[in-house]
Amino acid sequence: MPSVVVVGTQWGDEGKGKLVDYLTAHAEYVARFQGGNNAGHTLVVGGLRTSLSLVPSGILHPQTRCVLGAGVVINPDVLISEIENLQKLGIDVNPKRLTVDREAHLILPYHIYIDQAREDQKGPDRIGTTGRGIGPVYEDRAARYGVKIGEITDLESLRKKLERYVDLKNKYLTRVLDAPKGVSFEEVWDVILRARGRLLPYLGNVSIILDKACRRGNRVVFEGAQGTLLDATFGTVPYVTSSNTIAGAVMPGCGLGVRAVDYVLGIAKAYLTRVGEGPFPTELKDELGVKLREIGGEYGTVTRRPRRCGWFDAVAMRRAIRLNGVDSLAVTKLDILSGIEKVKICVKYEMDGKEIDEFPAIPGELERITPQFVEFSGWTEDLTGVRSWYDLPVNARLYLDAISEIVGCPISIVSIGPERMQTLFFSGAKFLKNFIAEEG
Ligand code: IMP
Repeated sequence: MPSVVVVGTQWGDEGKGKLVDYLTAHAEYVARFQGGNNAGHTLVVGGLRTSLSLVPSGILHPQTRCVLGAGVVINPDVLISEIENLQKLGIDVNPKRLTVDREAHLILPYHIYIDQAREDQKGPDRIGTTGRGIGPVYEDRAARYGVKIGEITDLESLRKKLERYVDLKNKYLTRVLDAPKGVSFEEVWDVILRARGRLLPYLGNVSIILDKACRRGNRVVFEGAQGTLLDATFGTVPYVTSSNTIAGAVMPGCGLGVRAVDYVLGIAKAYLTRVGEGPFPTELKDELGVKLREIGGEYGTVTRRPRRCGWFDAVAMRRAIRLNGVDSLAVTKLDILSGIEKVKICVKYEMDGKEIDEFPAIPGELERITPQFVEFSGWTEDLTGVRSWYDLPVNARLYLDAISEIVGCPISIVSIGPERMQTLFFSGAKFLKNFIAEEG
């Protein structure tokens, strides 16, 4: 079974969507395994734009079946509106092409209110969440207060349970978080009724579907959301999301065994960005940071917030490569660095007067480090028309070689623009070349 997991190796927004699209054009299945509608990408279909945050963009390829594993958290209204918008664009979305695991947890209105009230209460210490209820829903799952989407088949039992939960959540919202008001039961129940009215045919068992697909030898793309440095365990806690974002999350997120993944493709932007609060050692707080943001279009797809920009951090990348077991890297947005006189890579940190080459991830530690950089001459050529490695300017090649050498991982793909043809495959990309060449 050729299966590949595409994971972000930084703080998200590495350009995973483009590579996932590239690979799913040749795959029979694409699966989300964690996160929810905190992720997102924009699609242009026949000149019309639509935003997707739950339905994988693989839905555009008629032979690809899209599945959302039990590890994904589902806001039913968002899913319904994505399905409807795609259908309005003439895309065939039906239960044969889209399946949501019955065991996935539901994001309900109180999760969103709690997320927002908590951020308000934290004030300057806020996380900078997307405000979509992601933290509270994963908390409920762990605390055994969650609601699985499959529960909408038994409204009587669900109603009793939700009456209790709404009461509890309202006490928490108004007494602990000082929210001006709680949530009404009707608001929550309306969401359930809409979900039942529209989503029942889409529910299924993703674990069984993917297990069969793997046994048949179908090609499967596992699509990660967010990035390694946002991982709930190994990221820059507490400034992280609330799911495990690393490649290993495929197994509990889809209900598969540990051998389900053949190849781990790590996506890394040629520089670094972060949206939301939290430490960012290589952040550029000067004009260059602003320039990268503008040229790179670095604004959040979900919240439109400006992204903070900085230099490539090889110390953090080495950790990401280890945590994910990355087989090769795809470096994206190299074209954005054209015209910068000197480009830098952070190769080491200094902490408390000592040099360290391991990424410190205990809260407070990262704020105490000073990054140590190696500087390279930049290049002025526009890269967007380059179609092979050999046509890249020498300095751009040296920059990529240095990254690969310093982080100890081959680079298989370089992306130099949003179009499919602006994707360069290197010799190390044998697995990926076969993946997109083989007939399923
Ligand atoms: P949450 O996932 O909404 O709880 O947000 C927690 C942190 O993760 C915040 O810093 C968000 O900005 C960040 N985050 C969540 N999803 C994404 C994403 O898809 N790209 C980049 N950052 C994200």
